[in-house]
Amino acid sequence: MSKKLTIFEMGPRDGLQNEKALIPTASKIELINRLSECGFKKIETSSFVSPKWVPQMADAAEVFAGITRKPGISYTALTPNIKGYERAKASGADEVAVFASASEGFSQKNINCSIAESFERFAPIVEAAKADGIPVRGYASCVVECPYDGPTPAQNVAMVSERLLQMGCYEVSLGDTIGAATPETTEAMLDAVLKVVPAEKLAGHFHDTKDFALANIMSSIKMGLRTFDSAIGGLGGCPYAPGAKGNVNTLAVAKMAKLLDYNTGLDIEKLEETQEFILSIKEAAAA
Ligand code: HMG
Ligand code: MG
Repeated sequence: MSKKLTIFEMGPRDGLQNEKALIPTASKIELINRLSECGFKKIETSSFVSPKWVPQMADAAEVFAGITRKPGISYTALTPNIKGYERAKASGADEVAVFASASEGFSQKNINCSIAESFERFAPIVEAAKADGIPVRGYASCVVECPYDGPTPAQNVAMVSERLLQMGCYEVSLGDTIGAATPETTEAMLDAVLKVVPAEKLAGHFHDTKDFALANIMSSIKMGLRTFDSAIGGLGGCPYAPGAKGNVNTLAVAKMAKLLDYNTGLDIEKLEETQEFILSIKEAAAA
């Protein structure tokens, strides 16, 4: 089994999308430039969603235009529909992501349509991205529990994940959107998903509401997953998932990986400095 873990940094997107106080565009740019020096290969930079739905991400184009791109890093973005894709492409996003839900309630609240309708919206994105040579990642949200529908049947997660891959996503990130998962429920969910999708095409995306995210990552590693999403400073949550806390803290994942002898390629000292930087910006914005 590989002793390499890939950490996909979510802070600038999943982290900052949920900040109540508006974070200045220049600070977002500085955060991404600092993250670029930490050793990541992928940084989710922003999202091209409706600015009315998520005002915090309204400056996505300015953020992409302002960052200093380091060769070898993919600067990625969320795209809910073809309009978002066109904006992402114009901004030079290296990779885009479509985001489906494994539960109907969250699909309606988050992107204003059913799961079936969301796949209709994703099809032209994947088609255009293929023609443009832009990789597409897929998210499946609420993989264990939905804030509106309650527990999510693992079979639904398997179905949505398989469909995302079949339509052309290179990987599916399994989102415990509200941080409800435990090692037990994570393993039960993965059991079902791994019957239809190989571990190397899956990523774990754990929010840390109950402080179980690291344990859930451990369970996922045991079941063969090697890619995990995390956010610097444990920033964030989802504005349409009440009570959701931030993604698991990048520094905590990097330290755990090091202790377990997994190579992440991340520089712990630079992560610590970057965490300090963004937490001070957050504090200043809230003051
Ligand atoms: P809608 O209102 O149904 O969209 O929203 P619409 O197509 O009817 O358009 C309404 C207006 O929005 C129009 O403008 C469109 O042009 C505009 P108007 O004519 O009224 O002036 N519009 C856009 N503008 C800019 N960029 C766009 C765009 N699309 C439409 N892409 C929509 C549907 C999907 C757009 C909306 O619901 C939305 O933006 N939702 C995104 C919500 C969001 O960002 N949630 C957080 C990210 S998901 C997450 O955090 C989970 C994840 O981390 C994994 C996990 O944890 O599980 C990924
Ligand atoms: Mg998330």
